[in-house]
Amino acid sequence: MRIDVVTLFPHWFDWFRTQRHVTNALQLGHELELVDLRETTPLKAGQVDDTPYGGGAGMVIRVDVVEAALEGRYGAAPPPHRTIALSPGGRQFDDALAAELAAEPALTLLSGRYEGFDERVNEHLATDVVSIGPYVLSGGELAAMVVTDAVIRKLPGALGHEESAVEESFSEALEGAPEYPHYTRPFEWRGHPVPEVLLSGDHARIREWRLEQSRGRRPGTP
Ligand code: ADE
Repeated sequence: MRIDVVTLFPHWFDWFRTQRHVTNALQLGHELELVDLRETTPLKAGQVDDTPYGGGAGMVIRVDVVEAALEGRYGAAPPPHRTIALSPGGRQFDDALAAELAAEPALTLLSGRYEGFDERVNEHLATDVVSIGPYVLSGGELAAMVVTDAVIRKLPGALGHEESAVEESFSEALEGAPEYPHYTRPFEWRGHPVPEVLLSGDHARIREWRLEQSRGRRPGTP
């Protein structure tokens, strides 16, 4: 899979690219590339934004600047894969969308800044508009990292063999519920022991207990 992130701050991803599951994915042949909006802007002095029509605070990233970045990367035709604009007003990102995106051969993530993109980016250049939650970040970079992280975890081999994304929170294996609790040594800590069932060695009982715990953690469960 290839993920291209279009951003004004490519260096924000330097640290992210060194994280183990990301390096695992890159070693497996997946790609994570940064596309700097300022490198292809058709405007003078690296300008990428402009004041909003109708007035108001803040600056808006111009549609022609995003178009130039996409053309610089993919040529005149639109990218032949999903292009996702990150915006607080978009479709809420969740595990099902992460799994859907992980099945794509390539993705382009558009990270906005300031007041966000000119609406024509969302309508005509992006195929999807995605939000990572109902709050406003100072830019789409962290949102792009969240999406990339959750998608990369789903790629076979990215987590290494001792970890697995199959049975984790919100997965199908757990019927979409949050994950069950985990315990390790010491068996008893300040009067709080580990649930006995986990020491029973009875795998069917442990599995049933974990599923029950998981179901009990669904939001709204008393
Ligand atoms: N950009 C700013 N806030 C955001 C959010 N909550 N989700 C996605 N992109 C954003």
